[in-house]
Amino acid sequence: MIITAMFRAPLSRAPLSRRRCIQALALGGLARRAGAQARITIRLSHVVARQTPKGLALERFGELVRARSQGRIDVVVYPNSLLFGDADEMQALQLGAVDMLAPSLSKFGRLGFPEFELFDLPFLFETRTQVYRAMQGRLGQALLAGLARQRMVGLGYLDNGFKHMSANRPLVAPDDFAGLRMRVQGSRVIAHQMRALGARPVVLDFGETRRALAMGVVDGTENPISNFWTQRMHEVQTHLSLTHHGYLGYAVVVHQRFWAHLAGPDRQLVAAALEEALAWGNAIARSENEQALAALRESGGIHIHDPSAAQRQQLRAATAEVYQGLERRIGRQWLEQVQQEWITG
Ligand code: LMR
Repeated sequence: MIITAMFRAPLSRAPLSRRRCIQALALGGLARRAGAQARITIRLSHVVARQTPKGLALERFGELVRARSQGRIDVVVYPNSLLFGDADEMQALQLGAVDMLAPSLSKFGRLGFPEFELFDLPFLFETRTQVYRAMQGRLGQALLAGLARQRMVGLGYLDNGFKHMSANRPLVAPDDFAGLRMRVQGSRVIAHQMRALGARPVVLDFGETRRALAMGVVDGTENPISNFWTQRMHEVQTHLSLTHHGYLGYAVVVHQRFWAHLAGPDRQLVAAALEEALAWGNAIARSENEQALAALRESGGIHIHDPSAAQRQQLRAATAEVYQGLERRIGRQWLEQVQQEWITG
């Protein structure tokens, strides 16, 4: 916590200090591993709360690794952007200041992997089964393999289900979005989606979102309920509309250097533990989101709207133009492949 406090303060103000901090952590990590071969600490950073599908799955990964290595390999999980946020976590991974990340698929586009933004297309998927077919099939494997272009190793996918819209008014039909400033992740497809609805997309770190909503810097946002609830966004938004308009998932990544540094049996142990933890996380993602919705309803602090089929159809029609954007940015072959894989299964 002390390291975190010292580290986060300069981060938001001075890019140069941030870089120095990351470099200091990077050197520390390498020295620790080189100096004591048998003992390993895997530092894992993410931006959401512990009590979310991602937070829980990554904690479980740590437990499995510790148990199976009899404590020789430790996993330290830094949730809630405590160590790094959206803006700096990839740089930290590249420099070795952190060993493992699980960014949302939406955050890979601006790193040079626009094909990941395919998962952001509005109304592309209706069910988790469709998403899983795409992720676990050839398409998902090809996307992960492509991460090697920036010396990353993609170790697997994690689910958080479907996103919904929130603001200080209901958002159930396209006209409702007119003029709203909507916080989005750094995905061009999501930005395009918001513009197609008549809103203004504002890219912000996840860790800054609640505060920006509270201060009126932005008017609304989109996320699965587990993120909405655990960030207590219902305290700063009066309406949640269950639009189910887009998907949110994650890819767990490490740097090739880190992966190559692990001895073969350790790599196998870590990969097996992660596979098991991700399968478990994917199995609880739906119920975690359902529980979050039930808790929200119980809290009574927010109006919850269920758009009708006709309203969803209007939203779908209004965002259809985003698909043409995809062809230019992402490449038509990816869309064809995803449609083929989840339709033909
Ligand atoms: C976001 O809106 O930035 C979230 O997707 C963060 C996350 O990792 O779930």
